[in-house]
Amino acid sequence: MAHALSQRTGRHPGWPAKIGALRVSAGVVELRPVRLRDGSAWSAIRIRDERNLAPWEPSAPGSWVQRNAVTEWPGRWAVLRAAGRRGVALPFAITLDGRLVGQVMVGNIVREPLLSAYVGYWCDARVNGCGVTTAAVAMVADHCFGPVGLHRLEATVRPENRASMRVLEKLGFREEGLFQRYLDVDGAWRDHLCFALTVEEVPVGGLVGRLVERGRAERS
Ligand SMILES: CC(C)(COP(=O)(O)OP(=O)(O)OC[C@H]1O[C@@H](n2cnc3c(N)ncnc32)[C@H](O)[C@@H]1OP(=O)(O)O)[C@@H](O)C(=O)NCCC(=O)NCCS
Repeated sequence: MAHALSQRTGRHPGWPAKIGALRVSAGVVELRPVRLRDGSAWSAIRIRDERNLAPWEPSAPGSWVQRNAVTEWPGRWAVLRAAGRRGVALPFAITLDGRLVGQVMVGNIVREPLLSAYVGYWCDARVNGCGVTTAAVAMVADHCFGPVGLHRLEATVRPENRASMRVLEKLGFREEGLFQRYLDVDGAWRDHLCFALTVEEVPVGGLVGRLVERGRAERS
């Protein structure tokens, strides 16, 4: 059905989209496409949070400050927007009470016969531990298994990244195995644990429904 829609309209099912809202202890979490005007908030958070973000992100040329300068955003945004339009990514901004606090990115979308993608995320350290990212990933996963029509979502995490693994654990992602020297992160090829979820494992009511049932979020 989703495939038929994408062929009929020539557009990527489920994109663009606004998703939400879910209330967690820090405020109201929503997802929307990244915007050109996100640059100053994006840069300010990322430069402030270098110590929190750099150990988990792919290596790249230039210093952290250079790579996350406000002037870098228009180019990055254009690449993300183009990927969204081509149907290979869903580049969402995470907002908390309307302010940008992070990104949740569905990437490497492969349609039939795999119907698979990866999910990646980061969040402003000032609101870490409040359930913001768990709410964001729950919403994006339900969206992927619903309107986007995917069958499998994967997340790869360095075994040292306890907070990220906890997000996936709370959402019911299943550990599949260790990818050795998988990704060049923070200056070296690092092992990553692969976690995944297929649509068969999604509870009735979705991941959001289960979070709400468990008292970890409220519909807003
Ligand atoms: C990983 C990250 C996105 C989590 O965001 P968040 O909004 O704080 O996530 P949540 O609050 O929804 O959940 C975090 C969970 O990890 C737990 N946690 C945090 N640090 C932890 C640690 N060192 N050891 C074990 N658990 C930890 C929190 O207590 C919370 O679990 P709880 O709800 O059971 O208490 C955020 O820390 C981040 O941006 N990190 C840097 C970038 C990154 O690692 N991205 C993912 C790459 S795979």
